[in-house]
Amino acid sequence: MVVDGFFGDTGKGKVVAYLALADKPELCVRTGAPNAGHTVVIGGEVHVLRTLPTCFVNPTSKLAVAPGALIKVDVFLSEVEKYGRGRSYVDFNTGVIEDRHVEAERRDEFLMKTVGSTGQGVGAAMVDRVLRRLRLAKDVEELRPYLADVPSMIHEARERGVVIEGTQGTFLSLYHGTYPYVTSRDVTASGVLSEAGVGPKAVDEVVLVFKAYVTRVGGGPLPGELPPEEAERRGWVERGAVTGRPRRAAPFNFELAKRAVLLNTPTQIALTKVDALFKDAAGKTRWQDLPPEARRWVEELEERLGVPVTLIGTGPEPWHMVDLRREKGRL
Ligand code: IMP
Ligand code: MG
Repeated sequence: MVVDGFFGDTGKGKVVAYLALADKPELCVRTGAPNAGHTVVIGGEVHVLRTLPTCFVNPTSKLAVAPGALIKVDVFLSEVEKYGRGRSYVDFNTGVIEDRHVEAERRDEFLMKTVGSTGQGVGAAMVDRVLRRLRLAKDVEELRPYLADVPSMIHEARERGVVIEGTQGTFLSLYHGTYPYVTSRDVTASGVLSEAGVGPKAVDEVVLVFKAYVTRVGGGPLPGELPPEEAERRGWVERGAVTGRPRRAAPFNFELAKRAVLLNTPTQIALTKVDALFKDAAGKTRWQDLPPEARRWVEELEERLGVPVTLIGTGPEPWHMVDLRREKGRL
């Protein structure tokens, strides 16, 4: 499973896409909801997925949506058409976001202004789910061809490889994040597993993803936040994949990373955008080709966090990756 150690947008989409291409898992399961956009760049073309797993890049992987996830029916159907024809599944119990949820959320000043919600109706739909009045995928006619028992699929595909894709990031977790500036679900490793319908002992590897700097969209604390001009100067300005809002930026934060390790119990760490800190790392795929300063930075981080750094992202495409899993005994 792959989870995000900061505030979302660390490059989970790219890491999951890399794993899909490298390992060719039989099944990939996406958790979360369409407030999160997971980005994959293939041949310079940018794809933002809000419902299906970014594993679509491997044509033999089945693509499933978790029972604890929420979908918008139109977004699901258009992503199936575009990325997952003939191999997409949604669990019977996946929740369905309706227009009224979007409207309710967008009327809510606290959510929209203070928290900085993406306004996708996710929180309002979660409220209805808790109150036991949310429609589920099994209640929607158009979803009938895609309905599946996703926990059973996970169980059956286990030996041949399953990737579970987390969403958002540790510090946006409803329970463990910077409440109330958080999303409406627990997005740490345990929450993601619960959403997918699989227990912790079934999981071989928990990959925790950190970006080489920290970004955050919406409200809430961001330790070490840089003035926008400084973030711009360092080339760290990004925009939200779903809302297009500029992301706030700060340097890599060791204390946050340490806390994320405590909350997720990872077996491996993926570090993305290392080329943003060390320009000469761009596009490299072998450890020995990384600049010595980059290698030192990675080694120091690995030592301080006590978890092997196995995947090092050096560019936007999935294959821009140094994969040390075999060397470090994780494959
Ligand atoms: P909501 O979950 O859309 O209500 O948003 C709540 C908070 O989580 C806001 O600060 C959003 O900016 C943030 N958020 C939600 N989804 C994402 C995401 O995928 N990436 C980054 N931030 C997100
Ligand atoms: Mg994103």
